[in-house]
Amino acid sequence: MTPDLSVKLGALTLPNPLIAASGCFGYGLEYEQVVDLSSLGGIVSKGLFMKERQGHPPPRIVETPAGMINAIGLQGIGVHRFVNEKLPLLRRAGARTFVNVCGTTLDEYVEVCKVLSDAEGVAAIELNISCPNIKEGGIQFGCSLDGTYHVVSAVKKATHLPVIPKLTPNVTDVASFARAAEDAGADAISLVNTFLAMAIDVETRRPRITNVLGGLSGPAIRPIAVRMVWECYQLVKIPIIGMGGITDARDAIEFMLAGAAAVQIGTQNFVDPFIWSKVIDGMQDYMKRHNVARISELVGTFDPAPPRAVHA
Ligand SMILES: Cc1cc2nc3c(=O)[nH]c(=O)nc-3n(C[C@H](O)[C@H](O)[C@H](O)COP(=O)(O)O)c2cc1C
Repeated sequence: MTPDLSVKLGALTLPNPLIAASGCFGYGLEYEQVVDLSSLGGIVSKGLFMKERQGHPPPRIVETPAGMINAIGLQGIGVHRFVNEKLPLLRRAGARTFVNVCGTTLDEYVEVCKVLSDAEGVAAIELNISCPNIKEGGIQFGCSLDGTYHVVSAVKKATHLPVIPKLTPNVTDVASFARAAEDAGADAISLVNTFLAMAIDVETRRPRITNVLGGLSGPAIRPIAVRMVWECYQLVKIPIIGMGGITDARDAIEFMLAGAAAVQIGTQNFVDPFIWSKVIDGMQDYMKRHNVARISELVGTFDPAPPRAVHA
């Protein structure tokens, strides 16, 4: 029997748990030539404000050991152009489109979500309250329990779409933020966004990126992200979308065992845009080896008992 990879995220059913992470997959259409968008569980758009944004001047990415730092500064085409120019094509491609929504104020979050509610073809809103690279909005909400609660409840009142706040790892107790989001009516949560980081060119004594600070992503952050998913899984009942440094099926399954109902893949797209079918194959192989009929059976089945002794 073919293993069943489908997963449920509240009211949404996805054919598999693999979603392309925001900012690492453009608006999806850029990857249409290399991957059938309908074969993914979903795609998340680049973060969108009401208006277009230029982002920060380059250089704005730098490679680091087992990862990268970016400070793109949320360059984007704005929600109206997205709805008019990209959404119809994404619909035609059969993509399940999650839209990453940004705001400098609470009102902007609400207004952007209203525009998306009136559009056809949006599967869910991923509320970006965690971008570490912009001065105003975003992480200011995501680093305050009250801010998280207020922005999620305001957006919930303004839209019928599922609302999925994306949490920042740049806090001491991420699970309390997951709880605040759940209390405010979130349908699911995404975690993690990038870790605040910096890199210095020691020859010039200058920053490696113009914004000085940026967000660290890639395999370097994976063990911390897995820990955070596990902490949230123990505290909240809403589904968790886990991410941070996933490079193959094993990594994806690790997140699911820790409690993620679905996962996102970001930075690895830059290394290997053909990753998707490999991860699907690897998951099916794991399920056959472990006699798992449905991938959703794995969620949260991590056993915290001490590791089995390995004998030489
Ligand atoms: C170049 C780049 C741009 C990103 N842009 C966004 C964004 O617009 N909105 C957002 O919520 N996260 C953004 N992220 C964060 C990713 O979606 C993801 O949360 C993070 O990179 C961890 O996953 P990964 O290690 O698989 O990349 C960006 C990450 C990178 C590397």
